[in-house]
Amino acid sequence: MGKIVVAIDGYSGCGKSSTAKAVAKDLGFTYIDSGAMYRAATLHFLNHYLSPSNPQDVAKGLKTLEISFKINPDTGKQETYLNGINVEDEIRSMSVSEKVSEIATVKEIRKELVAQQRRLGKSKGVVMDGRDIGSVVFPDAELKIFMTADLETRAFRRQQELLEKGELVDLEDIKKNLVNRDRIDSSRTESPLIKVSDAVEIDTSNLTFEAQVVQIVQLAKEVIDNE
Ligand code: DC
Repeated sequence: MGKIVVAIDGYSGCGKSSTAKAVAKDLGFTYIDSGAMYRAATLHFLNHYLSPSNPQDVAKGLKTLEISFKINPDTGKQETYLNGINVEDEIRSMSVSEKVSEIATVKEIRKELVAQQRRLGKSKGVVMDGRDIGSVVFPDAELKIFMTADLETRAFRRQQELLEKGELVDLEDIKKNLVNRDRIDSSRTESPLIKVSDAVEIDTSNLTFEAQVVQIVQLAKEVIDNE
């Protein structure tokens, strides 16, 4: 099968990551979670008491930031490593979620992570999800998806996800966090979240997980067949 880049962008908590992961598996492509990279950078800044608004701290933080992905041989799942340490669970915690949008507004941090994302996707055959994949990271991606879902659905899904990891968080707190992140992500100067004109919009509020995966895989196969 031919190789293309599938870019999946959208609001927080739409299920982009789990969908992108399943789409990649189906197509035999590599999945890259760009949000995990911003989350790992956030954890790094938190761990070292570095402020994203202090340019010296940013330079220091970026110099010692090494993010990688490895497949867990027991579960077959991809996990995020920060400077050689598995941080897959820690980067999904509320403390990281509360800080990540602020970190993601910093130009120098974005520049570094976008460069890494482009390197990871340069051989194509990738599904990457995030906020600026179709607009900035891979503006020439052969397939661009913009995922949406209503706030109630997103908050409920995120609550279940956290519960599965043993973190019980109030639904209202999750909603506040999602609304706040959407606001910062969409209004920032650097690569704001936008729906580009050539993206296919998929509202997942009333779709089953399987249905949304099938829909994107189908679109990808059509693009590959027409390549
Ligand atoms: O996809 P996620 O919720 O794990 O992403 C966490 C945060 O990272 C999100 O609130 C905004 C930021 N982000 C970004 O600015 N650009 C991306 N390509 C991916 C994520």
